[in-house]
Amino acid sequence: MGKLLKGQVALVTGASSGIGSAAAIFLAKEGAMVGVNYHSDREGAASVVAEIKRSGGKAISIQADVGDEKSVETMFAAVFEEFGNLDILVSNAGIQQDAAFHKMTLAQWNKVINTNLTGAFLCARAAVKYFLKRGVVEGISRSAGKIIFMSSVHQEIPWAGHVNYAASKGGLTELMRSLAQETADDMIRVNSIAPGAIKTNINKEVWSDEARLKELLKLIPYNRIGVPEDVAEGIVWLASDKSEYVNGTTLFIDGGMTLYPGFVGNG
Ligand code: BGC
Repeated sequence: MGKLLKGQVALVTGASSGIGSAAAIFLAKEGAMVGVNYHSDREGAASVVAEIKRSGGKAISIQADVGDEKSVETMFAAVFEEFGNLDILVSNAGIQQDAAFHKMTLAQWNKVINTNLTGAFLCARAAVKYFLKRGVVEGISRSAGKIIFMSSVHQEIPWAGHVNYAASKGGLTELMRSLAQETADDMIRVNSIAPGAIKTNINKEVWSDEARLKELLKLIPYNRIGVPEDVAEGIVWLASDKSEYVNGTTLFIDGGMTLYPGFVGNG
Protein backbone atom coordinates (compact mmCIF):
# COMPACT_ATOMS: atom_id res chain seq x y z
CA MET A 1 0.00 0.00 0.00
CA GLY A 2 1.35 3.42 -0.97
CA LYS A 3 1.90 6.08 1.65
CA LEU A 4 0.92 9.18 -0.23
CA LEU A 5 1.41 11.51 2.72
CA LYS A 6 4.47 10.04 4.39
CA GLY A 7 6.17 12.47 6.76
CA GLN A 8 3.42 15.08 6.46
CA VAL A 9 1.49 16.69 9.28
CA ALA A 10 -2.24 17.33 8.98
CA LEU A 11 -4.68 19.22 11.16
CA VAL A 12 -8.35 18.28 10.80
CA THR A 13 -10.93 20.48 12.52
CA GLY A 14 -14.17 18.96 13.72
CA ALA A 15 -12.57 15.53 13.64
CA SER A 16 -14.36 13.85 16.55
CA SER A 17 -17.09 12.42 14.31
CA GLY A 18 -18.48 12.20 10.79
CA ILE A 19 -16.51 13.43 7.81
CA GLY A 20 -13.74 14.90 10.00
CA SER A 21 -13.04 11.64 11.81
CA ALA A 22 -12.95 9.65 8.55
CA ALA A 23 -10.61 12.29 7.12
CA ALA A 24 -8.23 12.01 10.07
CA ILE A 25 -8.17 8.21 9.82
CA PHE A 26 -7.67 8.18 6.04
CA LEU A 27 -4.90 10.80 6.17
CA ALA A 28 -3.14 8.78 8.86
CA LYS A 29 -3.45 5.59 6.77
CA GLU A 30 -1.46 7.42 4.10
CA GLY A 31 1.28 8.22 6.57
CA ALA A 32 0.28 11.66 7.86
CA MET A 33 0.61 12.60 11.54
CA VAL A 34 -2.72 14.09 12.53
CA GLY A 35 -4.01 16.74 14.90
CA VAL A 36 -7.58 15.69 15.69
CA ASN A 37 -9.48 18.80 16.68
CA TYR A 38 -12.74 18.67 18.59
CA HIS A 39 -15.00 21.25 20.17
CA SER A 40 -16.96 19.34 22.81
CA ASP A 41 -16.83 15.62 22.00
CA ARG A 42 -13.65 14.69 23.82
CA GLU A 43 -14.42 10.93 23.76
CA GLY A 44 -15.08 10.99 20.03
CA ALA A 45 -11.71 12.61 19.38
CA ALA A 46 -9.98 10.21 21.77
CA SER A 47 -11.39 7.22 19.91
CA VAL A 48 -10.20 8.61 16.55
CA VAL A 49 -6.71 9.08 18.03
CA ALA A 50 -6.81 5.56 19.49
CA GLU A 51 -7.83 4.07 16.14
CA ILE A 52 -4.97 5.86 14.36
CA LYS A 53 -2.47 4.70 16.98
CA ARG A 54 -3.74 1.11 16.80
CA SER A 55 -2.85 1.13 13.09
CA GLY A 56 0.65 2.37 13.89
CA GLY A 57 0.01 6.07 13.13
CA LYS A 58 0.59 9.22 15.13
CA ALA A 59 -2.16 11.53 16.32
CA ILE A 60 -3.12 13.88 19.13
CA SER A 61 -6.49 15.31 20.07
CA ILE A 62 -6.78 19.07 20.50
CA GLN A 63 -9.74 20.94 21.94
CA ALA A 64 -10.50 24.27 20.28
CA ASP A 65 -13.36 26.47 19.17
CA VAL A 66 -12.49 27.30 15.56
CA GLY A 67 -14.52 30.50 15.74
CA ASP A 68 -12.35 31.90 18.52
CA GLU A 69 -9.06 33.56 17.56
CA LYS A 70 -7.16 32.70 20.75
CA SER A 71 -8.41 29.13 20.71
CA VAL A 72 -7.22 28.67 17.11
CA GLU A 73 -3.77 30.05 18.00
CA THR A 74 -3.53 27.59 20.88
CA MET A 75 -4.58 24.71 18.60
CA PHE A 76 -1.90 25.49 16.02
CA ALA A 77 0.70 25.89 18.79
CA ALA A 78 -0.22 22.39 20.02
CA VAL A 79 0.31 20.93 16.52
CA PHE A 80 3.70 22.61 16.17
CA GLU A 81 4.73 21.52 19.63
CA GLU A 82 3.81 17.88 19.01
CA PHE A 83 4.85 17.45 15.37
CA GLY A 84 7.05 20.52 14.69
CA ASN A 85 5.40 21.09 11.35
CA LEU A 86 2.23 21.44 9.27
CA ASP A 87 1.54 20.46 5.67
CA ILE A 88 -2.22 19.97 5.41
CA LEU A 89 -5.17 21.80 6.91
CA VAL A 90 -8.60 20.23 6.56
CA SER A 91 -10.94 22.98 7.70
CA ASN A 92 -13.94 20.78 8.30
CA ALA A 93 -15.74 21.95 11.45
CA GLY A 94 -19.27 22.95 10.58
CA ILE A 95 -22.72 23.23 12.13
CA GLN A 96 -26.35 23.80 11.23
CA GLN A 97 -28.87 25.88 13.20
CA ASP A 98 -31.95 25.63 11.04
CA ALA A 99 -34.91 28.00 11.16
CA ALA A 100 -37.45 29.59 8.87
CA PHE A 101 -35.95 32.86 7.71
CA HIS A 102 -38.47 35.12 9.45
CA LYS A 103 -37.92 33.25 12.69
CA MET A 104 -34.13 32.98 12.52
CA THR A 105 -32.51 34.66 15.50
CA LEU A 106 -29.36 36.72 15.22
CA ALA A 107 -27.75 34.17 17.55
CA GLN A 108 -28.55 31.34 15.08
CA TRP A 109 -27.19 33.39 12.20
CA ASN A 110 -24.01 34.39 14.06
CA LYS A 111 -23.30 30.94 15.42
CA VAL A 112 -23.32 29.31 11.99
CA ILE A 113 -21.34 32.08 10.29
CA ASN A 114 -18.85 32.10 13.15
CA THR A 115 -18.09 28.39 13.02
CA ASN A 116 -18.47 27.69 9.30
CA LEU A 117 -16.99 30.85 7.80
CA THR A 118 -15.02 32.79 10.41
CA GLY A 119 -13.62 29.50 11.72
CA ALA A 120 -12.40 28.63 8.22
CA PHE A 121 -10.82 32.09 7.93
CA LEU A 122 -9.02 31.86 11.27
CA CYS A 123 -7.67 28.35 10.66
CA ALA A 124 -6.62 29.06 7.07
CA ARG A 125 -4.93 32.29 8.12
CA ALA A 126 -2.87 30.48 10.75
CA ALA A 127 -1.93 27.77 8.24
CA VAL A 128 -1.03 30.25 5.47
CA LYS A 129 1.17 32.28 7.83
CA TYR A 130 3.17 29.15 8.51
CA PHE A 131 3.22 27.85 4.90
CA LEU A 132 4.52 31.23 3.66
CA LYS A 133 7.33 31.24 6.20
CA ARG A 134 8.23 27.59 5.68
CA GLY A 135 7.91 27.19 1.90
CA VAL A 136 8.26 23.92 -0.02
CA VAL A 137 10.10 21.10 1.72
CA GLU A 138 11.75 18.85 -0.81
CA GLY A 139 11.03 15.18 -0.42
CA ILE A 140 7.83 15.90 1.52
CA SER A 141 5.50 17.58 -1.00
CA ARG A 142 5.80 19.68 -4.13
CA SER A 143 3.51 22.28 -2.54
CA ALA A 144 4.31 24.56 0.39
CA GLY A 145 1.01 23.60 1.98
CA LYS A 146 -2.48 22.36 1.22
CA ILE A 147 -5.76 23.70 2.54
CA ILE A 148 -9.02 21.84 2.05
CA PHE A 149 -12.24 23.52 3.09
CA MET A 150 -15.35 21.50 3.79
CA SER A 151 -18.06 23.21 1.84
CA SER A 152 -21.40 21.69 0.80
CA VAL A 153 -23.61 21.22 -2.23
CA HIS A 154 -25.35 24.24 -0.68
CA GLN A 155 -22.58 26.51 -1.89
CA GLU A 156 -24.54 26.07 -5.11
CA ILE A 157 -28.00 24.70 -4.30
CA PRO A 158 -30.18 27.23 -2.44
CA TRP A 159 -31.61 25.79 0.76
CA ALA A 160 -34.86 27.19 2.15
CA GLY A 161 -35.00 27.03 5.92
CA HIS A 162 -31.20 26.96 6.12
CA VAL A 163 -30.24 30.44 4.95
CA ASN A 164 -27.46 30.86 7.51
CA TYR A 165 -25.86 27.57 6.49
CA ALA A 166 -26.15 28.16 2.73
CA ALA A 167 -24.77 31.69 3.14
CA SER A 168 -21.80 30.35 5.12
CA LYS A 169 -20.97 27.84 2.37
CA GLY A 170 -21.45 30.39 -0.41
CA GLY A 171 -19.09 32.71 1.45
CA LEU A 172 -16.63 29.90 1.95
CA THR A 173 -16.51 29.35 -1.80
CA GLU A 174 -15.22 32.84 -2.51
CA LEU A 175 -12.94 32.70 0.52
CA MET A 176 -11.42 29.56 -1.00
CA ARG A 177 -11.15 30.95 -4.55
CA SER A 178 -9.75 34.33 -3.51
CA LEU A 179 -7.23 32.74 -1.16
CA ALA A 180 -6.18 30.24 -3.84
CA GLN A 181 -5.59 33.14 -6.22
CA GLU A 182 -3.60 35.01 -3.58
CA THR A 183 -1.28 32.17 -2.56
CA ALA A 184 -0.86 30.10 -5.75
CA ASP A 185 2.42 31.85 -6.52
CA ASP A 186 3.67 30.74 -3.11
CA MET A 187 2.90 27.12 -4.01
CA ILE A 188 0.06 26.91 -1.51
CA ARG A 189 -2.93 24.96 -2.82
CA VAL A 190 -6.42 25.81 -1.63
CA ASN A 191 -9.49 23.80 -2.61
CA SER A 192 -12.92 22.83 -1.30
CA ILE A 193 -14.92 19.65 -1.15
CA ALA A 194 -18.67 19.97 -1.48
CA PRO A 195 -20.33 16.88 -0.04
CA GLY A 196 -23.97 16.08 -0.68
CA ALA A 197 -26.02 14.13 1.83
CA ILE A 198 -23.50 12.19 3.89
CA LYS A 199 -24.71 9.96 6.72
CA THR A 200 -23.46 11.84 9.81
CA ASN A 201 -24.91 13.40 12.95
CA ILE A 202 -25.65 16.67 11.14
CA ASN A 203 -28.51 15.11 9.13
CA LYS A 204 -29.42 12.17 11.40
CA GLU A 205 -32.95 13.51 11.74
CA VAL A 206 -33.42 12.92 8.01
CA TRP A 207 -31.75 9.57 7.34
CA SER A 208 -33.03 7.91 10.52
CA ASP A 209 -36.62 8.52 9.43
CA GLU A 210 -37.68 6.08 6.72
CA ALA A 211 -40.10 8.43 4.96
CA ARG A 212 -37.67 11.34 4.97
CA LEU A 213 -34.84 9.13 3.73
CA LYS A 214 -37.04 8.05 0.83
CA GLU A 215 -37.65 11.70 -0.08
CA LEU A 216 -33.95 12.48 0.28
CA LEU A 217 -33.01 9.66 -2.10
CA LYS A 218 -35.10 11.33 -4.80
CA LEU A 219 -32.51 14.11 -4.71
CA ILE A 220 -29.57 11.75 -5.22
CA PRO A 221 -29.29 10.31 -8.74
CA TYR A 222 -26.84 7.67 -7.53
CA ASN A 223 -29.59 6.50 -5.20
CA ARG A 224 -27.75 6.07 -1.95
CA ILE A 225 -26.80 8.34 0.89
CA GLY A 226 -23.05 9.03 1.08
CA VAL A 227 -20.76 7.84 3.86
CA PRO A 228 -17.88 9.80 5.41
CA GLU A 229 -15.38 7.52 3.67
CA ASP A 230 -16.63 8.72 0.26
CA VAL A 231 -15.51 12.22 1.24
CA ALA A 232 -12.30 11.13 2.98
CA GLU A 233 -11.06 9.59 -0.30
CA GLY A 234 -11.34 13.01 -1.95
CA ILE A 235 -9.61 14.71 0.95
CA VAL A 236 -6.60 12.40 0.70
CA TRP A 237 -6.37 13.06 -3.04
CA LEU A 238 -6.58 16.84 -2.64
CA ALA A 239 -3.98 16.71 0.15
CA SER A 240 -1.53 14.68 -1.91
CA ASP A 241 0.77 15.57 -4.80
CA LYS A 242 -1.52 13.49 -7.06
CA SER A 243 -3.63 16.65 -7.32
CA GLU A 244 -0.67 19.04 -7.48
CA TYR A 245 -2.08 21.01 -10.41
CA VAL A 246 -5.51 21.37 -8.80
CA ASN A 247 -5.95 24.77 -7.18
CA GLY A 248 -8.94 26.97 -6.40
CA THR A 249 -11.58 24.44 -7.28
CA THR A 250 -14.42 22.56 -5.63
CA LEU A 251 -14.69 18.80 -5.80
CA PHE A 252 -18.34 17.78 -5.51
CA ILE A 253 -18.82 14.42 -3.79
CA ASP A 254 -22.57 14.17 -3.88
CA GLY A 255 -23.81 11.17 -5.88
CA GLY A 256 -24.99 13.66 -8.48
CA MET A 257 -27.15 15.82 -6.19
CA THR A 258 -26.01 18.96 -8.05
CA LEU A 259 -27.33 17.47 -11.31
CA TYR A 260 -30.82 18.70 -10.31
CA PRO A 261 -32.54 15.30 -10.74
CA GLY A 262 -35.98 16.96 -10.51
CA PHE A 263 -35.43 17.89 -14.16
CA VAL A 264 -35.42 14.29 -15.38
CA GLY A 265 -38.43 14.16 -17.71
CA ASN A 266 -39.44 17.59 -16.49
CA GLY A 267 -38.82 21.25 -17.15
C1 BGC B 1 -25.92 19.36 5.08
C2 BGC B 1 -26.76 18.12 5.28
C3 BGC B 1 -27.56 17.82 4.03
C4 BGC B 1 -26.71 17.87 2.78
C5 BGC B 1 -27.54 17.75 1.51
C6 BGC B 1 -25.09 19.18 3.83
O1 BGC B 1 -24.23 20.26 3.65
O2 BGC B 1 -25.10 19.57 6.23
O3 BGC B 1 -27.61 18.28 6.39
O4 BGC B 1 -28.14 16.54 4.14
O5 BGC B 1 -25.97 19.06 2.74
O6 BGC B 1 -28.63 18.60 1.51
